[in-house]
Amino acid sequence: MAQPALIPPHWETPAAAPTPSDELIAGLSAGQARISPKYFYDALGSKLFEAICDLPEYYPTRTEAEIFGAHQEAIAAAVGTGCTLIDLGAGNCAKAASLFGALQPRQYVPVDISAEFLHQSVQGLQRRFPAIPMQPLAMDFSATLVLPQQVDEQRRLFFYPGSSLGNFDPQQALAFLRRLRAALPADDGGLLIGLDLVKQTHVLEAAYDDTLGVTAAFNLNALNHVNRLIDADFNARDWRHVAFYNARSQRIEMHLEARRDLIVRWPGARRTFHQGERIHTEYSHKFSEQDILGLLEQAGFGGCRMWFDARRWFAVCHARAR
Ligand code: AVJ
Repeated sequence: MAQPALIPPHWETPAAAPTPSDELIAGLSAGQARISPKYFYDALGSKLFEAICDLPEYYPTRTEAEIFGAHQEAIAAAVGTGCTLIDLGAGNCAKAASLFGALQPRQYVPVDISAEFLHQSVQGLQRRFPAIPMQPLAMDFSATLVLPQQVDEQRRLFFYPGSSLGNFDPQQALAFLRRLRAALPADDGGLLIGLDLVKQTHVLEAAYDDTLGVTAAFNLNALNHVNRLIDADFNARDWRHVAFYNARSQRIEMHLEARRDLIVRWPGARRTFHQGERIHTEYSHKFSEQDILGLLEQAGFGGCRMWFDARRWFAVCHARAR
């Protein structure tokens, strides 16, 4: 059954979660200032992330696509056809669309925090695949996973590619996977997840500090987004992109570093930053195979199958709700 092409994304506003401005102001006021990586993704940020995925240094997207391509049949055999495909952080929906042929989902549910970008993506996609019912959800799924009743309950497959799980610290990652598990009935449904593996530092660092400066622009753009959200007066020119691999914690860290002493103001408050002081913007944790199996097991998933690229830089994993 064809759905109309213009379904506006359904907005889910969690009752208990802090509002974006409360969360941002708390982060900017903390001793170690922080901005959550979800604030990268305004309309421009989503486009910059698309550009990052095309950079020669940023191997994850390309490598994951290669794994999906090479192991399509095995992945489809593990997942089965006719699932409710719930795409967490769908963005331009390209990854899921590349699996439509093999998986033949009964319903496609792209979820993204960037409502406008999601709407545009789904419009194009629905035209290409008129037979697949699509229900876009514009929501912050890190705050709530309550899915509206339009989302079929049977045979749910959470699709969480791109190593986005790596944005959480290990405890949060486990808690998040447990929430996914809790949204699945036992022995029905599962998870298809892509995770970036631990590798040589120079390969990791180049991927997050590219020659063209696209990742720097992506990082700095968070300041413009914050300005709009809380009416702050950040000047991106005063800040520098910093990215490095922290081997002990198995993660890339991204920060914005003040180029000089400065004051940032927003209604009712202000904060001084000294030259060299940093705002933390992102962690991107890297995993070993053991880390992945342990996490999934602890979260209540079983029957895990993994697929890799030839260099073992990235892993795609399917697991079932136990
Ligand atoms: C979308 C969170 C997986 O961590 O690699 C890319 C985001 N940040 N370059 C990642 C990102 C800088 C990306 N994730």
